[in-house]
Formats: sequence, structure tokens, C-alpha cells
Amino acid sequence: MSLRRPVAVVVLAAGEGTRMRSAVPKVLHPLAGRSLLGHALAAARGVDPEHLVVVVRHARDLVAAHVAETDPRALVADQDEVPGTGRAVQCGLDGLPGGALAAGGTVLVTYGDVPLLQPETLRALAAAHDGAEGPRRAVTVLTADLADPTGYGRVVRDEDGSVAAIVEHRDATDAQRAITEVNSGIYAFDAAVLAAALPRLGSANDQGEVYLTDVLALARADGGAVAAVPVADQWQTEGVNDRVQLARLHAEANRRAIRAHQLAGATVVDPTTTWVDAGVRLGRDVTLLPGTALHGATVVEDGATVGPDTTLTDVRVGAGASVVRTHGSGAVIGAGATVGPFSYLRPGTELGEGGKIGAFVETKGARIGRGSKVPHLSYVGDADIGEGVNIGAATVFVNYDGVAKHRTTIGDHARIGSDTMLVAPLTVGDGAYTAAGSVITADVPAGAMAVARGVQRNVRGWVERRRAGSPA
Ligand code: UD1
Ligand code: CA
Repeated sequence: MSLRRPVAVVVLAAGEGTRMRSAVPKVLHPLAGRSLLGHALAAARGVDPEHLVVVVRHARDLVAAHVAETDPRALVADQDEVPGTGRAVQCGLDGLPGGALAAGGTVLVTYGDVPLLQPETLRALAAAHDGAEGPRRAVTVLTADLADPTGYGRVVRDEDGSVAAIVEHRDATDAQRAITEVNSGIYAFDAAVLAAALPRLGSANDQGEVYLTDVLALARADGGAVAAVPVADQWQTEGVNDRVQLARLHAEANRRAIRAHQLAGATVVDPTTTWVDAGVRLGRDVTLLPGTALHGATVVEDGATVGPDTTLTDVRVGAGASVVRTHGSGAVIGAGATVGPFSYLRPGTELGEGGKIGAFVETKGARIGRGSKVPHLSYVGDADIGEGVNIGAATVFVNYDGVAKHRTTIGDHARIGSDTMLVAPLTVGDGAYTAAGSVITADVPAGAMAVARGVQRNVRGWVERRRAGSPA
């Protein structure tokens, strides 16, 4: 089958999505790390159309801004107050540059709320439309055979199997309602046929809307060929109308992503409690333990282990590293490093190769050099720590004076004693020590031992004098 470059993909995203019961427009709800519309744009862009146009109306400024951010080359077209999918496509075509359809070609229509559609499916639809034998193909519609077709437009076929019309559920006769083949809402149109039919559509139906589906019957009446291509994988045409469907489709998208990662060489111990966004990359022999969620542009390199019970967003985990019961975002973990359990990595954390961030440690804006360790109960904020450094338990990088944040620099092989307060701005030189329990407010030269704490005094015989008769 040949495939000419589609002249345009029109993505319908003007509807309100009332059943989401949300202040957020439906198509902006996230699923596996992208908005619903983001998935639709990725599928549409995947067929490399000359033009990609998104039809907006409800919360148009928010949706338009999201389109600009997600796919800057995409056009945005406003639907006017006339309702219906037919009107929406008309507005989409009006949003194309003048003369865009002059040379003819194929126009694809998809929905902004159908997140699992794959570019391959759109490409196959366009190829089936393009490569059809016989009279020039006017419309090819992607259809699904559903056990419960309630609510969908039914595909009414002739005796010869060609498509005669699509009838909406609410406009259908009982006999038509018995048809289980439904319109997915995804089509390939001959551009000229579409452009000629849209202005002729009426709104004499139960909803009083301009139905795109009426283009099929019109095209037929004009002598065009209308065909249906059944989709084998029905998840790909399923739309989101409420949050129950949102969760259902998210779970399926996740199952598919995890399966692909497994087949590519990652061990996922419990796919049902592991969540991996669309943009996540995993190396070979990565192990994901139960309760792990990887979001955004997280990358886990070869042989690393993440989990159990770990959530990482935009984190790079180096080869062979281990990240246990950790919450992290915007961080880089070096090869062979260990993190957790119970660590909190905030943006700007960079842990060097073989380093350690241990239990109950929070880090932010902290570069921790190769082989350096922050093993227990510490806060490391706004710090540059050299190589081979040990930060004793319960150390705090006191980075905030109540008004501004300040940085602390620690030289290579320094030893920070337990319970040290490092009051920034501060520099501790290479190989320097601080005594446990010190409040360090001035720079420490390389090789020095800084002691900044009260001197211990033992009051002999105090207990016998002051607590006579107590168990002590
Ligand atoms: C539509 C089809 C139906 C098909 C079903 C598949 C029509 C008349 N009916 O019905 O045959 O089985 O999809 O899901 O086309 N939209 C706009 N502007 C509008 C109206 C809708 O952009 O004025 C967008 C919506 O945001 C949504 C999509 O088009 O993404 C479908 O609209 P919806 O109202 O849900 O159509 P259905 O009634 O489900
Ligand atoms: Ca719908």
C-alpha cells in the first residue's frame, strides 16, 4: 500500500468534557506523563502531515498554550458557537493556510481525548484509504466491533459491505441499534470531498448538531466510495469521558509500556504496582521493584535497581546504581551509587559515581563528588562537596539565613563530624575535619580540625548531692 504524505491531520479538542467534573479541561488531564492531547498530537505528528491543526473552544487559551508548548508547529483553530463534530472539522480546515487543500490529498481526523492511538494505526488507515482499488475513495473510517455499542455511532453497511451511513445512537432505529460495529471517530477523507461536503451538512438530528458523520452519506450520494477499516486493537480508539476511563486507559498504557521495557531487557517484578511514563528510558538489565513510579524524562541506565516504593521524576540513575524507597526529582545519580532507604532528592542533586545518600537524608542543589557519602539523617542544601568526603550523621547545611540562600563548599576527603551545623556561606578546605556537634560559622582551612562547641564540664558527686535516694 502506498502512502502519500497526508495533507492535514485535524485533531478535535473543542469539547468541554463535562463528565470529568474538573476545573482542568479534559484534554489537558495527564496520562502516563503526557496530557491526553499530548498523546493525540504525538500520534498525529507521527504520520508527518503537511499541516496539523487542533480545534479548540472550551478553555481555548489554556488548550492553545498547551499546544504551542507541546507541538510548536501545530496550528490552532477556534470553533465558533455552532456545535458538532462536522462544524469542528470545518473550523479546522478554515484554520489551514490558504490553498493548503488545493492540491488535494488525504485529511485525517482524530480526537484529542483518545490517548492510546498509535501513529502506525493512523498510517495504516491513510494507506488503506490511499491505496484502495476501484473508484476514488472518498472516506475511510476506522471502526470497532463492540459487545456493548451503546452511545456510539453505528456503521450501517450495504449488502455489498460498503458503508452506507453512520447513524448516531440517539438517532438510530432499533434495528440499527442492534449493529455492533461502531464509528471510532477516526477517519481518512479525500480533501476535496470533505471540503465540499462540510458546508452542506445540516443539523436535523436529535442533538441539533452538525455531524461529521453525515459526510459519509453525502459522499456516497455523490458517487464516492466509503469504506470501513476495522481496528483490531480497540484500546487505540477508546476515548476518555470520565475519570474511570482515564484510570482504565492509563493502566492499559502502562501495561503496554512495561511490556515493551520487559521485552527490551528490563526486569519488572510487579507490573501492576509499577508505573512508567511514556518518556522514560530504561537500559538493559535494569530491575524495577514493586511500588516504583518513574515519571517524566527519567532514565535508568544498565544494571541499575530502583525500588521498592520509589518515585522518581526527571531523574537520571547511573549504571549499576541502587535507589531504594526514595522520592526524587531533577536529580542525577552516578554509576554504582546508592540511595536510600527513605531519601528525598530534590532538584539539582548530583551524586557522583559510587557515592551514597542514605537513610533520612534530604538533598537540594547539592553536588556530591565521586565516592562521597552522606549516610544518615542529614540535610544537604546548596552545597558543592568534593570527592571522598564523609558527612557525619545529623549534619545540616544551614543554607538559609531567613532572607537568602547561601552555598557551602567542602573540599576533597574532608570529614564532617556528626551533628555539625555548617552555616553558609562557608568553605571547608581539602582534608579538613569538623568536630562532632560543632556549629561552624567561619571557613575551615585545608587540613585543619574545626571545633566549635561548648567545653564539657563534669560536676563530680552531683547526683549524690542533688538526687539523693533516686535510683541513679
Ligand atoms: C462521536 C461520533 C460517533 C462516534 C463517537 C466515537 C459524531 C456525530 N459522532 O460521537 O459516531 O461513535 O464520536 O467516540 O461525530 N468535538 C469538538 N467540537 C464539537 C463536538 C465535539 O471538537 O462541537 C470533539 C470533542 O471534544 C471530542 C470529539 O469531538 O473529542 C467527539 O465528540 P463527542 O461529542 O464526544 O462525540 P460523540 O457523541 O461521542
Ligand atoms: Ca465521546
